[in-house]
Amino acid sequence: MSDPPREGSIVEARVERMAYGGDGVARPDGLVVFVPWTAPGDRIRATLVERRASWARARLDEVLEEGPDRVAPGCPVFGVCGGCQIQHLSPPAQRSAKARAVADAFERIARRALEPEPVCEAAAEPWHYRQRVVLTWRRTAEGLALGFHAAEDPTAVVPIHACPIFAEAGNRALGPLCRGLAVGLEPDDPGEGRLMIRALPGEGVQAGVFAPDVEAARRLAGLAAAQAGVPVTWGTWKSEGGPLSLAADAPRLEARFDYRELNLRVGFDSFLQADLDAAEALYDAALEALHAEPGESVIDGYAGIGVVACHLASKGVKVTAVEAHPGAASDLRANAARVLAAGRPPSSAHSRLPQFGRRLVLLWCKASKNLSALALSPFGGPARAYHGFRMPRLRASCW
Ligand SMILES: C[S@@+](CC[C@H](N)C(=O)[O-])C[C@H]1O[C@@H](n2cnc3c(N)ncnc32)[C@H](O)[C@@H]1O
Repeated sequence: MSDPPREGSIVEARVERMAYGGDGVARPDGLVVFVPWTAPGDRIRATLVERRASWARARLDEVLEEGPDRVAPGCPVFGVCGGCQIQHLSPPAQRSAKARAVADAFERIARRALEPEPVCEAAAEPWHYRQRVVLTWRRTAEGLALGFHAAEDPTAVVPIHACPIFAEAGNRALGPLCRGLAVGLEPDDPGEGRLMIRALPGEGVQAGVFAPDVEAARRLAGLAAAQAGVPVTWGTWKSEGGPLSLAADAPRLEARFDYRELNLRVGFDSFLQADLDAAEALYDAALEALHAEPGESVIDGYAGIGVVACHLASKGVKVTAVEAHPGAASDLRANAARVLAAGRPPSSAHSRLPQFGRRLVLLWCKASKNLSALALSPFGGPARAYHGFRMPRLRASCW
């Protein structure tokens, strides 16, 4: 009998399926091995780089035989850039991998099998669908690098000139914005920061420069705006994974977003779904599943700018919307006030849902006197239901 594979072992196996996050899963000698950049049906050779008791991670050395779902990726830096994981799968295979990831999450975290299996619908636009990107800018020996973090080394930046999944108008602004940062960066400035660009349909391009030093961010924003001819705001970014916070005196750069009959305000730092066609399908599906009647009460627990909340409120549903981010909460308030112009004005909508320990709280939508909450652990623990959850603890607004 051969030795069980360990770190450094070279294995050959066929990839069986995709795991959440985009790695292929193979099982040489029964061991579950996650191998990035592989596709179902591929026969591969790989080296184990991390060995745990019941699973391992491996580096792909060679695709010995290509599986039927494998295609040439559309982006020249795919596999180097850490932004995308499954461009090497055909669009139908990408969709089935995503549907499987949703089903897996319900089975693993909520311990519920989804019946029927979820289906992932085809995107209206396979490329250039993102309305927003956040890029890293960094001073290097060769000049200013602007791009995404590298797949294999998240500390490295992969410079890009355009991103094929980002809106084309945004891509056109990318070069001039980068030139503005490059000409403006002074020796005492921070060596790294973030550049956020959004390009909402019909709204032009807007950008924000974020740096550990707010004065440097303000100056760089001015130079980037002059080069690109688009409005650029500024703020602070302190550390990897840390928030991008607009400076108190920086313009908030508002834009409008249409959903059905609504025309909603969305500030530069408010959350908006990255793919607006997919967002529309998502909101349609959520509203259809909810099927709320006028006069019924509904909680929108993580309301954002209030797309769902405002649509429901405009149909006479009593909505309680909760939103923690101050900017998004102010958009939510403004949007609700427009919808309810003839009725009672909304009270403050800025609040935070409680978290039970490290559990994420999702509220079931139809609210009654005794609310129910379903807590799903992002760390894989069992789901737990909380009943008789009292609204006053949320300090949320009702209108
Ligand atoms: C993914 S966005 C979804 C927004 C909206 N439902 C939509 O689909 O457009 C999640 C929102 O929840 C907010 N949020 C996150 N944690 C929260 C908490 N504990 N309490 C209230 N809001 C929270 C975020 O600020 C963000 O606006």
